[in-house]
This record gives sequence, structure tokens and C-alpha cells, in this order.
Amino acid sequence: MAYVVDIPLAEPSPPGSVKPSLLKLIREDIACVRQRDPAARSQIETILTYPGVHAVIWYRIANRLWADDWRFPARLLSWFGRFVSNVDIHPGARIGHRFFIDHGACVVIGETAEIGDDVTLYHGVTLGGTSWFPGKRHPTLEDRVVVGAGAKILGPITVGAGSRVGANSVVIDSTPPDVTVVGIPARVVRPQLGHRRVVGGIDLDHHLMPDPVGDAIAALLDRVEFLEARLAHMQRRNRDAGASATKSPNVTAPWSPMESDNG
Ligand SMILES: CC(C)(COP(=O)(O)OP(=O)(O)OC[C@H]1O[C@@H](n2cnc3c(N)ncnc32)[C@H](O)[C@@H]1OP(=O)(O)O)[C@@H](O)C(=O)NCCC(=O)NCCS
Repeated sequence: MAYVVDIPLAEPSPPGSVKPSLLKLIREDIACVRQRDPAARSQIETILTYPGVHAVIWYRIANRLWADDWRFPARLLSWFGRFVSNVDIHPGARIGHRFFIDHGACVVIGETAEIGDDVTLYHGVTLGGTSWFPGKRHPTLEDRVVVGAGAKILGPITVGAGSRVGANSVVIDSTPPDVTVVGIPARVVRPQLGHRRVVGGIDLDHHLMPDPVGDAIAALLDRVEFLEARLAHMQRRNRDAGASATKSPNVTAPWSPMESDNG
């Protein structure tokens, strides 16, 4: 079977390297759901009713088999995971800690995709390849990336840490960290700290609340500073005009403070 002898992209771990415990990884995947989905009410509910979580569990096991060179059982288990969850994660993909797929439907993650820690995907996301050549051909998502529903991220590009991809966007170029990208092809619409709305989950940046009173005070302070500078300028001009009038008594001062109010 051709797919069993794929190019070995998910290298077996180097000898001596310690793999994190499978159970610990799965526990983290389950626990993170309650932080990112306000609808999740309990751990048991998450385990039983979240297809995205089921998909990740099947992936974690299949990925262990894949990394230990059990390629066919890994693919078979992956197929089973896809069958029950409608999420297709290639067992060779590399996925970090606390990975969450919300809603779980129609997500596709290709063989050479790499995903950092604390990444969230919504339904309909594809991390796809753009070539048929073996080697790195799927995207890399760095830590804390959030990908909106239906977004497609294509090719061996990198989505920078903390970035957000808008729903239904198509990302074909690498993006810097901490930005929001939207559209087809996706473009940066703003740096992460410039927005206030949240992608479905819980906004943990509570310290970034809008502050209209603070903004108004800042505008007033700017205005006062401007008026002070203007007054100082007028006083200087007045002083200079007064001085030249004293020198030549026939010349009247070109400007009087009383007329300056609107100037
Ligand atoms: C992109 C997103 C993360 C919002 O980011 P944000 O930084 O708060 O940006 P804003 O909502 O202020 O929008 C910024 C600009 O991008 C546009 N925009 C936002 N989302 C967009 C999208 N998915 N596609 C195209 N344009 C989009 C807005 O119209 C706005 O344009 P403007 O500046 O010309 O007015 C959010 O719109 C999104 O797509 N979230 C995904 C949510 C999701 O998939 N939920 C599934 C739950 S089941």
C-alpha cells in the first residue's frame, strides 16, 4: 500500500529523548476545553460530547504509533478517528500541548503540518499542502494561534505566534506574530493588541478594556498642551512687537493680544 511507505516526515524521536506521557497530553487536551469554550460545563461532558476532543485523542495515539514506525496501524487508527469525528488529522502531523478543535467537523490537517502549544481551530479548517512533492508542504502554526471557522491555510508557510485567522480566510503567505489576518488571500488587518473582539472563546486580556474616560482626558490634555504652546508663542510675538515699538515709536504693534483669540 503506497501510503504506508510515505516519506518519513515525522521522524521517530531521537534515542534518549523523553516523550511526554500520552496520558498527560490527553489530559491537557481535555482540560483546556473549559478555558476556551464557555459552553463546556464539565470534564465528563467534554470527554463524551466533543468530537474535536475525540479526534485529538485518536491522533495522539496514532501519532505515537507513527513515530514508532508502525505506519499502517497509525493510518488505520487515524482513519477510524476520522470516521467517528469527521476530523482528518494525519498521524505524521506534529501537534503541541493543549490543542483544541472546537465543533470538530470537517477539519483536515496534513502530514507535514506543525502546530505549537495552545492552538485552537474551529470547524472547517484546512491545513493543506499546495504541492504533490514529498517534504514539508503543509503549514506551521506557532503557539497560541486561533484559526476561525472555514479558514484554509495552504502551503509550507508559518502563522506567527498569537495570530488570529479570520473565518473563511485563505492564508497563502506567512504571517508575523500577534496579528489578525482576514480575507482571500488573507491580509493583516491589525496587530493583535489593536482589537477588542474575541474569536468565540474567552478574552483573557481583560486589562485591555476600552477606556473612554481615559481617552477623553488624554484628548483634553493634548488640547491644553496645544493651547499653552500657542499662548507662549503669542506672548513671545507680543513681547517682540512691544520691543520693536519702543525702539521706533512711530510703528504700531502689528498684533494685540485681544485680537488673537481666533487667530
Ligand atoms: C478576524 C476576527 C478574529 C476578528 O478580528 P478583530 O481583530 O477583532 O477584527 P474586527 O472584527 O475588528 O475586524 C477587522 C476588519 O476585518 C474585517 N473582518 C473581520 N473578520 C473577517 C473575516 N472573517 N473575513 C473578512 N473580513 C473580516 C472586518 O470587517 C474589519 O474590516 P474594517 O477594518 O474594514 O472594518 C473574527 O472576525 C473572526 O473571523 N473570528 C472567527 C470566529 C469563528 O470562526 N468562530 C466560530 C465559532 S463557532
